Amino acid sequence: MLRFDGEVVVITGGANGLGRSYALEFARRGAAVLVNDVGSAHQGLAAEPAAAQRVVEEIVAAGGIAAANDVSVTSAHGGEEIIADALDRWGRLDVLIHSAGVMRDRTLAKLEFTDLDAVLDVHLKGGFHVAQPAFRAMMTQPSGGRIVMTSSTSGFFGVFGQAAYAAAKGALAGLSRVMALEGARHSIRSNAIVPVATTRLSRGADPGASRPPEDVAQFVVALCHRSCAATGMNFAAGGGWAGRMGVEVGPGFALPGGTAEDITANWDLVQRLGFEEMADGFSIGPYIDERLHEG
Ligand SMILES: NC(=O)c1ccc[n+]([C@@H]2O[C@H](COP(=O)([O-])OP(=O)(O)OC[C@H]3O[C@@H](n4cnc5c(N)ncnc54)[C@H](O)[C@@H]3O)[C@@H](O)[C@H]2O)c1
Repeated sequence: MLRFDGEVVVITGGANGLGRSYALEFARRGAAVLVNDVGSAHQGLAAEPAAAQRVVEEIVAAGGIAAANDVSVTSAHGGEEIIADALDRWGRLDVLIHSAGVMRDRTLAKLEFTDLDAVLDVHLKGGFHVAQPAFRAMMTQPSGGRIVMTSSTSGFFGVFGQAAYAAAKGALAGLSRVMALEGARHSIRSNAIVPVATTRLSRGADPGASRPPEDVAQFVVALCHRSCAATGMNFAAGGGWAGRMGVEVGPGFALPGGTAEDITANWDLVQRLGFEEMADGFSIGPYIDERLHEG
């Protein structure tokens, strides 16, 4: 059994859906879990601060270690408070999972900027607000730590009506990647997860589906165990499947000296995917690997 005895895990958005499943599973495996959640409705309104406490009671009743924290991830000060809460209680931080989320679907043409702010503040800026103090705390520990940002298929492939959400989720994958680069020399590993689970957040998009968040929790537990070396990667998990999601680079077109007309004439090469080697024998793969390990 993959155990987390003596380890401290912070989970934002831990009161419902995926975050709740993660909290229960990490606690069942011996971790002390800080369940952070403001207890909002899925659009981010109507706070119910007792939501995190309910999950904590469930964990404690099952013999686990947990504490509730109802501070919002939407401010830098809030992010500091959340991480400081875990450090004050248990003296260390091994795993941070940013799972807090709200949903405000609008097409770009109909987007109100208040909705954009609400989505970016929780997902993207919230990620920065908790990741920075967590990263700093992990830098001081010889054992480093593990960070998981929650991305989405929307961030990679786009979903009609989710301009703000897709932008936030794509950006979180970028943040996770940079944390992997900058964290390598501190034994900090960072990955992004693209979950698929039936929760109140996803129910509207796929009403008939039944995809237990517990499946995703099993994957996240494996990813966050100290024995897992993965870093700088994106993983999709849920709906009975888990696998890596990558970035593809095509063969491309040798540009030096090329005119716009040359490029137009070779457009099929420019937009083709599916080759690792680039046009002039230069491959981007080793460059990326080097960057990951040079830190
Ligand atoms: N369910 C899916 O299939 C799916 C797919 C892709 C991505 N995601 C992402 O996974 C994460 C979890 O989603 P879920 O489906 O479990 O949704 P959920 O609504 O069940 O849980 C999200 C939690 O975040 C909390 N939250 C909202 N604003 C907060 C804030 N300011 N501070 C702290 N907590 C806050 C909510 O109160 C809620 O408990 C989200 O980031 C979501 O975008 C989910």
